Amino acid sequence: MKQARTVISVDAAAAGKAISPDLFGVFFEDLNHAADGGLYAELIQNRSFSYSGADRAGWHALTAWEPVCRGGGEAHLTVGEDRAQAPDSRPHVELRVSRLGGGAGLRNGGFDGIPVTARERYVIRVLALRPAGPPAALTVRLESTSGTAYGEAVLVPVASDEWTWYTATVEASRTDPDARLTVLAHTTGVLRLALVSLFPERTFLNRPNGLRADLAQAIADLEPKFVRFPGGCLAHGLGLDNMYRWKDTLGPVEERGQQPNLCWGYHQSMGLGYFEYFQFCEDIGAKPLPVVAAGVCCQNTPGGQHAIDEKDMPAYVRDVLDLVEYANGPVTSTWGAIRAAAGHPEPFGLQYLGVGNEDQITPEFRERFALIHTALRKHCPEISVIGTTGPSPTGTEWERGWEFARDLGVDIVDEHAYKSPRWFLENTHRFDTLDRSGPKVYAGEYAARGNSMRCALAEAAYMMAMERAGDVVQLSSYAPLLARQGGTQWVPDLIYFDNTTVHRTLNYHVQRMHSVNFGDTSLPTRLIGGPSGPGEPVIGREGISLGTCATQAEFAGILVADRSPEGWQHRTGDWQVAGGVLRQSGDGDALTVLDAVAPAGDCVLTLRARRTGGAEGFVIGFGLTPSGDHYRWNLGGWKNRSLTLQRCDDGFVHDLADPVPTVIENDRWYDLRIELRGDRIRCLLDGKLVHDVTDERHAPERFAVSSVRHSRSGDLIVKTVNTTPTPVAATLRLAGAGQLARVTATTLAADPDSGEPFAPAPAAPTTEVLPASNPVEYLFPPHSFTVVRAAPRR
Ligand code: AHR
Repeated sequence: MKQARTVISVDAAAAGKAISPDLFGVFFEDLNHAADGGLYAELIQNRSFSYSGADRAGWHALTAWEPVCRGGGEAHLTVGEDRAQAPDSRPHVELRVSRLGGGAGLRNGGFDGIPVTARERYVIRVLALRPAGPPAALTVRLESTSGTAYGEAVLVPVASDEWTWYTATVEASRTDPDARLTVLAHTTGVLRLALVSLFPERTFLNRPNGLRADLAQAIADLEPKFVRFPGGCLAHGLGLDNMYRWKDTLGPVEERGQQPNLCWGYHQSMGLGYFEYFQFCEDIGAKPLPVVAAGVCCQNTPGGQHAIDEKDMPAYVRDVLDLVEYANGPVTSTWGAIRAAAGHPEPFGLQYLGVGNEDQITPEFRERFALIHTALRKHCPEISVIGTTGPSPTGTEWERGWEFARDLGVDIVDEHAYKSPRWFLENTHRFDTLDRSGPKVYAGEYAARGNSMRCALAEAAYMMAMERAGDVVQLSSYAPLLARQGGTQWVPDLIYFDNTTVHRTLNYHVQRMHSVNFGDTSLPTRLIGGPSGPGEPVIGREGISLGTCATQAEFAGILVADRSPEGWQHRTGDWQVAGGVLRQSGDGDALTVLDAVAPAGDCVLTLRARRTGGAEGFVIGFGLTPSGDHYRWNLGGWKNRSLTLQRCDDGFVHDLADPVPTVIENDRWYDLRIELRGDRIRCLLDGKLVHDVTDERHAPERFAVSSVRHSRSGDLIVKTVNTTPTPVAATLRLAGAGQLARVTATTLAADPDSGEPFAPAPAAPTTEVLPASNPVEYLFPPHSFTVVRAAPRR
């Protein structure tokens, strides 16, 4: 059958709806080695001998360093125990050279090697103290792993009781991604080293203490309207002592308050501190969006959320106000003067401030947030405060977060969504009905949990949904931004890198296509026609599945809508059927799918289940669609701690409701009952209602459209996402636009399953010039995101 032509009709002359000018930004968090070993251009790992077992088990003051003795040289190297002898007791190593030979000292392997490039220059800085004796000769050299020199300089620390900086610039003679920096003393006696630093001379915009140029450029190329930093979880930290304190990150690098990155299991040198963050934002034309803790630490801390003692809250609130003064105050103010002394007399123009991150909305949180909020309202009326609504875009914390923010009159709330592609495509109308008189939305962290084209397209469509609701969605940022190969705690990410390579993912291309094609006005748009053919059913009736996770179990008395499942065929796992009992005989981790159970209409499943061994419990699937999406009731998940109702879409599992603490016991029959009636799901254990959830499943959007006007240029921009395997031939009517001077189409298209972490993206956007006619004719490729940009003739 011939498919009717699709028409996209845009009212280009309409007044339209204003879109937030700051809608598309980025979120930088120091996880995945995004800062040290990442964006921060320092090439020496553990440059100030500050690593310890608190950062990571097995780490110590000499991690990433090794002692070196050349040509008979001999030195005694000590750390830690001599700290108190230093004038200001900073961590250091002491080199006690007893025999000269070819020199004795130590060398650093950087972050998985030090990358050097022929004819590039490198700045070496050493903070040293020579307590006594004649001036010491100290060679600093770039070299290969086997000791071949690529360039060197001599520094001469003189006797002093002050720590002193010695600096040299060295040009590399060779390119080597795996070089070393060696520091060799050639004078007998004692020399203390507190910090050894190596930077490429060329950092981003050649800033001192600057950023890695290629990574910073990849972020700059996104043209973000804002940068959120420094977290995420990092902002509130694991424990009160681990909270990120912005004041600790200012001033000379050797004096900054370093601390373990307990959230992500490594060390924070704080070399990339608040001054550098603000400066980077300014350099790339983005507004800064710092996040401070709301007076509570992360609830994932052992023992749960802890709150700053009430008596210490005035000082904490003062710290927050000081941050605003640091960013915005005149040079005559205390903190404005500190900013000016760092080289930036002009204010940084802080407008947004995040308070809290995914916090549990406890009474302690509420009290502390309110104190900070009230103080900001009173003293810093120029600041838009961003509150928090828990880790998920639904559920108890989300509801409490919203309610609290509404009651308090918070300007904006931060919602986080790490969900399946299907979830994003089902939620493209999420913001349409939001109360416009309440807080605005910051979609501060979202990702479709993969780097495939399927995920990137879902994100593209969600961004279009935010754009269409750009009057209430003020800000948005994908998360996480950066991930270092071999040093990653969270996947997927937007940009992957190692020491020499930067991979921009399909998701990155989507972000960029949106941000460089932003508009200030959303235009009324109608889609007539569109891809035909049946979509995936919203809830399937294909069967049920019974399974376990690291557990052995038996199931009996299985009835679906009062019928026994016919045949009891199982597709996977190691199962046996005997005497009406389905018994799992393997090691666990099996899922069996019972076919031929397709009751029309509502589905009521009853069964009995008994755990015979193992670590967790039962996993009961229902509502299966032909592609395998389904609901599951997970009894005994999270190491047998809870009952959870979940959805599994596109292979990703996410919770539909808060887990209910329960332990599944061995050798006891449980009665399970699951009712699926329309959107409502009820789960009963031993006759007791455990979950009662309404999951409003919408049909996922298959062909999404959004149109905007960029008033300054007058350009009309139409964005489409085609998630189907069929090309869509469309006529694009720009009613009221008159004749067009120029039309381009930029398209990103790829196989939906292509694209993966740590690899180059399988496709990049391509731009073609189209005939400048109105209407515009275009064939939207399968699995594609397209931006058509039309410049009306003036
Ligand atoms: O983006 C990674 C983490 O996800 C963030 O630190 C936290 O806010 C969220 O849980």
